Formats: sequence, C-alpha cells, structure tokens
Amino acid sequence: MFDNKNFSQPCENNKAPILEQLLVHFANQTKVLEIGSGTGQHAAFFAPALPHLTWQPTDIADNHASINAWLEEAKCTNVLPPEEFFIGKDSWSFQDVNGVFSANTTHIMQPHEAQLMMQTVALNLPETGVFCQYGPFKFDGKYTSQSNAQFDQSLQQRGFGGIRDIAELKNWATPLTLDDMIQMTANNHLLVWRK
Ligand SMILES: C[S@@+](CC[C@H](N)C(=O)[O-])C[C@H]1O[C@@H](n2cnc3c(N)ncnc32)[C@H](O)[C@@H]1O
Repeated sequence: MFDNKNFSQPCENNKAPILEQLLVHFANQTKVLEIGSGTGQHAAFFAPALPHLTWQPTDIADNHASINAWLEEAKCTNVLPPEEFFIGKDSWSFQDVNGVFSANTTHIMQPHEAQLMMQTVALNLPETGVFCQYGPFKFDGKYTSQSNAQFDQSLQQRGFGGIRDIAELKNWATPLTLDDMIQMTANNHLLVWRK
C-alpha cells in the first residue's frame, strides 16, 4: 500500500524549516486547507506536529493515492481525506477553514490561476484567517538569485506560469495583507497573509 508513495527531495529539504514557521503562524488556526498537496509528504509531516488543528489536503485525483499512502504510513489522525481542488476548475466547497497553506504551486499555475487562488483565498478566509504561501517570488520585478531567474525561464519554456512578483500577488490578494515575508532555504520565501 505504501508503494503508492511518490517522493519529492525538495519537500524533504524544506519541511522542517517550514514547520518551524507554521507552528508560529498557525498556532491559533483550527482547520487548514492545503492547496496542491503534491506527494502528500508535507501533510504527513505537518499534521502530527500541529495536533490542535485539522489538515485538509487537496490536489488532482491522480495524486490522491500518494497522499493517502504518506498519511497512512504516518498514522495521521487529524487529516481529512484528500479532495480534488484545482484552481480554475473546482470551486471552494470547504467549511470552517481558517488557514490555508500552499507550497510551490504559485509558479506552476498559469497567471490567471495564481490570481484566482489569491482572490479565492482572500474571499473565503474569515477575519482571523491566515494564508502561508511558500515558494520562489520576485520582488519589484527582481529575482532573488540568478538560479531563480534561470528556473523561471525553464518553467515558462515548459509551459508553466512562472515566478510571480510580490506586488501582483498583493494586488490580487486584497483584502488580505502581507504580514510577514520570511527568507527560507534555496532562495524561497514564506509569505504570511492575514485578513
Ligand atoms: C511543484 S508541485 C508542489 C507540490 C507540493 N506542494 C510540494 O511542495 O512539493 C505543484 C502542485 O500544484 C498542483 N497544481 C498545479 N496547478 C494547480 C491549480 N491550478 N490548482 C491547484 N493545484 C494546482 C499540482 O497538481 C502539483 O501537485
């Protein structure tokens, strides 16, 4: 059954530093929706360390077997079964969500999907809501490293949306405000948005 597990090395590398931040920023959240859970490694690592909240993984159906395998192996008890939630296709049908987490999805999405993700999260989070968004970003049109510039070029050549600028995310996320920008490993940042 655990044979269904897909594996991401970046997830293994970034999960501990991300968790350090989630312990702070999700301290008062009770239900967190993860957008683009991928392999399921993050959900299986974060949920047991955040026992005060319920974790809702989501991704396309093709990824559910891997997500379930990681969750079963970790014996997670505060995780709901993965649901399909593809921004641009599925609408928000979640109840009582007051936190959102998404890692390495914004630069994969097409620009209109990234815009819709920011707008959808902003619309559906309650007043005390928190959105933790991890990945590579541009600041005032500038990359944070040469490797991110090369990565962006290769993303766009492969048909992905590419690295988004913090300024455009801020516009799209209104009325969320960008409360914190934490420098993370491998030229990534964790953006903490609050309503
Ligand atoms: C690079 S993977 C990151 C997976 C995982 N969050 C991680 O950090 O390893 C990007 C994920 O975003 C998902 N994704 C791509 N476009 C999406 C969209 N429009 N809405 C929701 N998820 C999307 C993909 O299915 C994939 O699982």
